[in-house]
Amino acid sequence: MSAAPDIEITDATAYDDGIPHEVFTWMRHNDPIARRHHAGTPYWAVTRYADLVTVTRDPATFSSARGMTNLWDLSQEAMDARRSIIDTDPPEHVRLRRLGMPAFTTRRVKSYEQATRDIADELLDDAVGAGTIDVVRAISAPLPIRVIVDILGVPAQDADYMVELSDHLVEGGESLAPDAYGNTTPLELLPFNSPAAHALFEYGRALGDARRADPHDDLVTALIQAEVDGDRLSAVEYANMFQLLVFAGNETTRTAISNGIWAFITNPDQLELLHQDPGLIDGAVEEIIRYATPILHMRRTATTDTELAGVRIAEGDKVVIWYASANFDESVFPDPLRFDITRPVKPKMVSFGAQGPHQCLGAPLARLEIKILLEGIVARGLRFHHAGDIVRTRSNFVNGVAALPARVSQR
Ligand code: HEM
Repeated sequence: MSAAPDIEITDATAYDDGIPHEVFTWMRHNDPIARRHHAGTPYWAVTRYADLVTVTRDPATFSSARGMTNLWDLSQEAMDARRSIIDTDPPEHVRLRRLGMPAFTTRRVKSYEQATRDIADELLDDAVGAGTIDVVRAISAPLPIRVIVDILGVPAQDADYMVELSDHLVEGGESLAPDAYGNTTPLELLPFNSPAAHALFEYGRALGDARRADPHDDLVTALIQAEVDGDRLSAVEYANMFQLLVFAGNETTRTAISNGIWAFITNPDQLELLHQDPGLIDGAVEEIIRYATPILHMRRTATTDTELAGVRIAEGDKVVIWYASANFDESVFPDPLRFDITRPVKPKMVSFGAQGPHQCLGAPLARLEIKILLEGIVARGLRFHHAGDIVRTRSNFVNGVAALPARVSQR
């Protein structure tokens, strides 16, 4: 056995140059259920594909509710205040999932297509006009937030405010004053410790009240009106869902697009392939989402003494599942570090979560946005060229990109 790399995978600096693949590869081969420490607290790191699937399929043993899905431990009060669908177990989870579903039926997602295409077209035309762009500012940040704001039914004059809030969600606790946006709630009670999360929650709540009084044909109205067997989302459950959708519908898809365009810049042959055969677009969407792995990990907590791949795990232990590793498990994806839009990725890719109850509710929307963007790139004959290095977000949770300079050309 070669020596273990001296890098802790929950340390945000480990991602400054992207996912530390050499560390995860070593772990998969030598210590696949590894006892690790984050901020002095022990946890199990699950890095092999098969073990990650075992965990996500078994919410009775590996709970999303007991310690929630964040790496760090929270007080009971904080968990109660922050909990949304993602941090629940059956039967509560089944209930919220059924009430959240109306947002993502095939018919509804199809109805988002034209608005998405209009936004993508405008952004791509502007990018061509500009010549050299920051891909993040010009394309990958505005596309998902404008789409989600549009489909939620946020009035156009508030769209910029939504963008601002969502920009400050993940890094919020570190970069914003606690009272930014007039927040007086202790940060510990807010998702991502972010005052922007509080503002989003309050904004969502007010919009929900407005739609209760005056329903529109939008997602907020669909969520507050959703009814299953006489049951509805409470006002707080709805506002938590609103907040999660703005975050989940934004940061993740943005990250996929930024990493995807970087992959095309560094592998120009793959973009040429797409231009030659647009029939490859659906496969390219999947490979981009695998290669990007926008969410690096999620956490579960063992509800009982158990065993995983021969390793004993005690009740209450923290179990962290690493999509950033499973998506590059060579036993499932041969030559995993190669970006290859022709590889069969679906249905194995775990960027949206593996099999199990919590698989991403917004996956059809994320796929739609990336597909429409690729169609726009192909329709215009666009190429992206290196104009500077990618600047990554310092995070152990999202594989984020802060800036990506690129020159855009058209043939
Ligand atoms: C490429 C983009 C996306 C990625 C990589 C992604 C990733 C994920 C992952 C990994 C989970 C599972 C969490 C777990 O098992 O603990 C999840 C759940 C979820 N995602 Fe996404 N997501 C994306 C886009 C979206 C979009 C566009 C939306 C909505 C607008 C969305 C809404 C949700 C919701 C509501 C859940 C919770 C589902 C549940 O707990 O039942 N996601 N996502």
